[in-house]
Amino acid sequence: MNFEAIAAAQLPELLCAMPKTELHMHIEGSLEPELIFELAKRNHVRLNYASVEELRSAYAFTDLQSFLDIYYAGASVLQQPQDFYDMAWAYFLRAKADNVVHAEIFFDPQSHTERKVSMRTVITGLHEACVDAEKKLGISSSLILCFLRHLSEESAFETLEQAIPFQDLFIGVGLDSSERGHPPEKFERVFKRARQLGLKVVAHAGEEGPPAYIWNALNLLQAERIDHGVQAIHDPALMKRLAEERIPLTVCPLSNLKLCVFPDLAQHNLGVMLEQGVCVMLNSDDPAYFGGYLNENFLQTFTALNLNASHAYQLAANSFEAAFVPQERKQVWRNQLDVCFHHFGA
Ligand code: ADE
Ligand code: ZN
Repeated sequence: MNFEAIAAAQLPELLCAMPKTELHMHIEGSLEPELIFELAKRNHVRLNYASVEELRSAYAFTDLQSFLDIYYAGASVLQQPQDFYDMAWAYFLRAKADNVVHAEIFFDPQSHTERKVSMRTVITGLHEACVDAEKKLGISSSLILCFLRHLSEESAFETLEQAIPFQDLFIGVGLDSSERGHPPEKFERVFKRARQLGLKVVAHAGEEGPPAYIWNALNLLQAERIDHGVQAIHDPALMKRLAEERIPLTVCPLSNLKLCVFPDLAQHNLGVMLEQGVCVMLNSDDPAYFGGYLNENFLQTFTALNLNASHAYQLAANSFEAAFVPQERKQVWRNQLDVCFHHFGA
């Protein structure tokens, strides 16, 4: 591939046009303030904010926890299967506009079952949207059930048991919410049970937490992908393992910026990770809260880090490599990527 033939001026258009997957997006984090207000009205839920503008202006975060407090409050408007459908459908429309060909979508059932919304309501509402996304938009997708790590192991076990009747509607489990003080080992036994059930395993690790959390997510939870993982940079032995074993990191630059993991995007370590051969790929995490969907993450990161067409190709290819789909599907996407780059003159 002749990447030098692609002029810098063409890069933004190429970034938007190229096919890509998204593997780290919390569906509750795609809930835009307008939809929060619409659902609050539909379900007669009282919000602590008077208007969409007032809610949006509260989106000034200092760290992960300051975001999570608002994120869980926003999710409280979701009650009926249709609400979950509408939220997911809105995401799929945005994903389509960003040329996302495949999405693996996180959901947080405990933030709903705690409010007496059933597992069935959550999963069937989301699943229907996934079916329609394939049918009407040509986007394939899967659901990944995340355990909230600030809650107990017992609650995670209970959640997994509640989800078993719907096991054909989700492909794996993840671990999210407040990272510090809630290390992977707290959930070692739940993840073992999930693996025994044949589920895929991923985990947030090294977003704010230390490299030790990444080691333990790999060694104890047997995570197949690490969500965020940016703190790995502080541990050369870990970087070596990630690169050698091609363990994917689902990196979310705008999230890291908004949650003050990096003081500005120019200091993000994505470029270093790429240069060191780590299988990093880009994601939006909670796009309604962090100022942009997937293409916005690409555009802002490429500008800040001065990345080029070769980096773009690598990130898209990594996003295919890291997906939980058969090899043949990855090859189809890879061919589409090549066609796209050729179209831009490479
Ligand atoms: N839940 C939603 N977004 C999250 C993030 N960035 N980290 C941990 N838990 C989350
Ligand atoms: Zn996340």
